[in-house]
Amino acid sequence: MPRDSSGHLRAGRISPPRTVPAAIPRPEYVGRRGPREYEGTNVYEAGQVELIRESGRIAARAVEAVGLAIRSGVTTDQLDAIGHSYLIENDEYPSTLGYRGYPKSVCTSINEVICHGIPDDTLLEDGDIINIDITAFRNGVHGDLSKTFIVGAASQAATDLVERTREALNRGIKAVAPGREINVIGRAIESYAKRFGYGVVRDFTGHGVGEAFHSGLVIPHYDAAPDFAQPMEVGMVFTIEPMLTLGSREWDMWPDGWTVTTRDKSLTAQFEHTLVVTERGADILTLP
Ligand code: MF3
Ligand code: CO
Ligand code: CO
Repeated sequence: MPRDSSGHLRAGRISPPRTVPAAIPRPEYVGRRGPREYEGTNVYEAGQVELIRESGRIAARAVEAVGLAIRSGVTTDQLDAIGHSYLIENDEYPSTLGYRGYPKSVCTSINEVICHGIPDDTLLEDGDIINIDITAFRNGVHGDLSKTFIVGAASQAATDLVERTREALNRGIKAVAPGREINVIGRAIESYAKRFGYGVVRDFTGHGVGEAFHSGLVIPHYDAAPDFAQPMEVGMVFTIEPMLTLGSREWDMWPDGWTVTTRDKSLTAQFEHTLVVTERGADILTLP
C-alpha cells in the first residue's frame, strides 16, 4: 500500500482515464500539450462574473459531495469518481482533466502533500488531513476552489493547522479592496500565519481565473512588497489559496511531475476561493 514504514505517502496506482460526454464543451488546452498564452483580461463585466459564479457554484457543490464521502478506508480514486460524476452530471467539464497532462478531475492532497496530489489507490486513514481542489468549466469560464478535510479525528496540531489555514484565507479575502496593492493579500495571510510559526508556501500562488484556468496574474500568499504592487480593480477575478505548513516552506516534487510535498514532510493545509473585486471589497464566487 502506498505509505512507507513511517506513514509518509508514496505514489499509488492511477486508474484509467474517466470520460466526459462529447456534448460537454472542453477548455482549449484539452488534447494539447498546454494552454495557449492568455492575452485576455483579468477584469470582467457583471454578466461574465455571473457565469464564473455558476461554474464556481458547481465546483463548490462538487467539493461538498466529495467531502461527504471522506472517511477512513476510501481511496482518493473513489473521491475523484464522485467529483467527476458531480461535474459532468451538471454539464461542467473538470478543468484539471487533461490540463498540461494532469490525469484526473480532482486534486487530492493528503498530509505532507502541499498541492496537486493525483487520486490513486491510496486509502484514507483516521487522522489524515486531505485537501480537495476542484475547478469547473462551463460557458467558457472556470471557477476554482479547495478545502481541507479531517479524516475521523486528527491531532490537535493538525486540527489547529486546518482551522488557521481557513482563517488565513478569510483574512486574505478581507484585505481585498479596489486601489489596494495585490501584495496586501499575502501580507495579511503571512502576518497571521507567523503568529503560530507556520511555514507559508511561496512557490505556488493564487492566480487570475475566468476565461483562462491560470491567466498569468499572480497572487502571492506572503508579504511580497514592494513587488506585486499592481492595484486591484473592480471586476478583477482571481483566486486566493494559501498553503500553510507545520514546518518549513521548502518543497519537493514527486517523479510524477505533479505531487508537491513539504521537503521536511511536515503537515500542510490549504483553502481556496475564486473571488471578484467589488467597490466594497471581495465577493466570493465559489460558494455552494
Ligand atoms: N486547481 C489548482 C489551482 O488551484 C490547479 C490544479 S492544476 C492540476 O490552481 F493540473 F494540478 F490539476
Ligand atoms: Co487555483
Ligand atoms: Co484549485
